[in-house]
Amino acid sequence: METKTTLIWTVDKNNPDQNVIDRAAQIIKNGGLVAFPTETVYGLGANGLDGTAVAGIYRAKGRPSDNPLILHVADFAMAEALSAGLPPVAGMLMDKFWPGPLTLVVPRANHIPGQVTGGLDTVGIRMPSHPVALALIKAAGVPIAAPSANRSGRPSPTRAAHVQADLQGRIDAILDGGPTGVGLESTVLDVSGEQPVILRPGGVTYEQLADLLPRVTIDPSILGKKLSRDQAPRSPGMKYTHYAPAAPLTLFEGEPARVVQAIARRAAEQLARGKKVGILAFEENAPYYPRGAVILTMGQQKNPATAANMLFALLRQFDRLKVEVILAEGLEPKGIGLAIMNRLRRAAGEIVQL
Ligand code: TXA
Ligand code: MG
Repeated sequence: METKTTLIWTVDKNNPDQNVIDRAAQIIKNGGLVAFPTETVYGLGANGLDGTAVAGIYRAKGRPSDNPLILHVADFAMAEALSAGLPPVAGMLMDKFWPGPLTLVVPRANHIPGQVTGGLDTVGIRMPSHPVALALIKAAGVPIAAPSANRSGRPSPTRAAHVQADLQGRIDAILDGGPTGVGLESTVLDVSGEQPVILRPGGVTYEQLADLLPRVTIDPSILGKKLSRDQAPRSPGMKYTHYAPAAPLTLFEGEPARVVQAIARRAAEQLARGKKVGILAFEENAPYYPRGAVILTMGQQKNPATAANMLFALLRQFDRLKVEVILAEGLEPKGIGLAIMNRLRRAAGEIVQL
């Protein structure tokens, strides 16, 4: 792929300079690619109504083109125009959760290019709650198709520096609005069928949705295959390539005290073999691990929102520190914990259940 000059503009998150926004919007209107902050992760944006521009997103990311993209809108009218008919629950959910980290999968309007939908008859739409994202969409005057702004398979970017590390020279511009808030991608909820289904857990939790939608279900793939207790505790060879740091990651799940014990033991084994070991831990557990390990903490167990906010940045930090193995503590898959466990399981090459 030819190398482009990637412009980098720093913007004030709450009061972005309109001149900068207009220049970025002009790039979008001309068919170019602009990375921008949202409240979840950074997105890689293109004009969502221009199939050729959207094809550029897949090339820049190295993403398989059958994986559909989310269209980002700045107002309700824009969302309505993208659907062949919004299901009644969609309006209710938009009122309640937009702008915010909820993507709604609805029947698509005909004029949406196939490059956005991956050939499906539905489309994912969301209104982000980030002032920079909203200003950019408004100035562009079109819905912006945007996946997370990482190279395919890498952890999603929560800072402009992560976007630069993955996509510098492959995209036209980056709007740097500082670190993102939620830190994990939006919840994807399919409301196109009989019953609403959560396809990806995220910032809006299952519990919040179940309050309003008693029939909402969670797609079984979200937590991967569950091992029964009498099975061997390890399930190696799960070939997940998503969100993956460079070093193989082993996720330890179950009762916290046993998790800490098992990680401490594994870390000691690996250190004795001369390996550089990384441990992803909650703060209160850090003192129990061997001193030779690289321990990165994700806040306290009682504050899973902090873990969500830090997770992807920490996975990238392990890469920069060149650890050879990563041992990660799991947590209860409740609230935002479900989204964290989904990402950790997908990043893991091995899961140990205790
Ligand atoms: O928070 C987010 O959602 C971020 C920011 C940039 O908005 N975007 C993001 O996009 O995470 P991406 O492309 O990395 O993930 C979109 C997810 C994919 O898992 C895709 O398969 C699913 O949404 N998706 C999109 N359209 C869909 C559709 N019509 N039906 C089912 N799944 C869909
Ligand atoms: Mg992504």
